[in-house]
Amino acid sequence: MSTLRLGDEAPNFTAQTTEGEINFHDWLGEGWGILFSHPADYTPVCTTELGTVARYKPEFDKRNVKVIALSVDGLESHKGWIKDINETQHTTVNFPIIADEDKKVSKLYDMIHPNADSQHTVRSVFVIGPDKKIKLTITYPASTGRNFDELLRIIDSLQLTAYHKVATPANWKSGEDCVIVPSVADADIPKLFPKGHTEVKPYLRVTPQPNMD
Ligand code: BEZ
Repeated sequence: MSTLRLGDEAPNFTAQTTEGEINFHDWLGEGWGILFSHPADYTPVCTTELGTVARYKPEFDKRNVKVIALSVDGLESHKGWIKDINETQHTTVNFPIIADEDKKVSKLYDMIHPNADSQHTVRSVFVIGPDKKIKLTITYPASTGRNFDELLRIIDSLQLTAYHKVATPANWKSGEDCVIVPSVADADIPKLFPKGHTEVKPYLRVTPQPNMD
């Protein structure tokens, strides 16, 4: 499998998970999804990551995003480790973890980076839209746990910009001003952005977030 790029269809697969066998596209349904890999079960950073995702589940639900984790460990390993995650992170793991022992999904999504580690998945993140297309990819090394606040911020931007002709500036957070995309003609701005706008430069036009009251 060549590297997956933004706009590519997220490859479908069937897999064993801690919540039963799934067909990935059927499991995604009509909403958004996040597929993320971690290097291995019973490791410290991964334990904190999966506990964090479990705690953030209501935030993902609010955004209509399903979350699924993956490592190349087996189902029994995942199930044993979940008990440790729940105990140490004071949570209940409430999303499936794929058991990818044969590395079928890892290879399909290019989650093993041999020059970093020939056997284990790195910390890949794929955000998938309702059209099953890849909207965002991020890759972290094993040594760096992910920032799931940043992932929620990304989802807010992806969902906003999917439906409105805006983009989000550096360090933007939901509720803050957005920029109008360059393809919008000045003449169309009043109709598209009734809350008003400020022209800082002809190419830098700022407007309040359109989907906020
Ligand atoms: C961890 O999750 O803690 C971890 C996994 C692999 C290498 C380094 C750290």
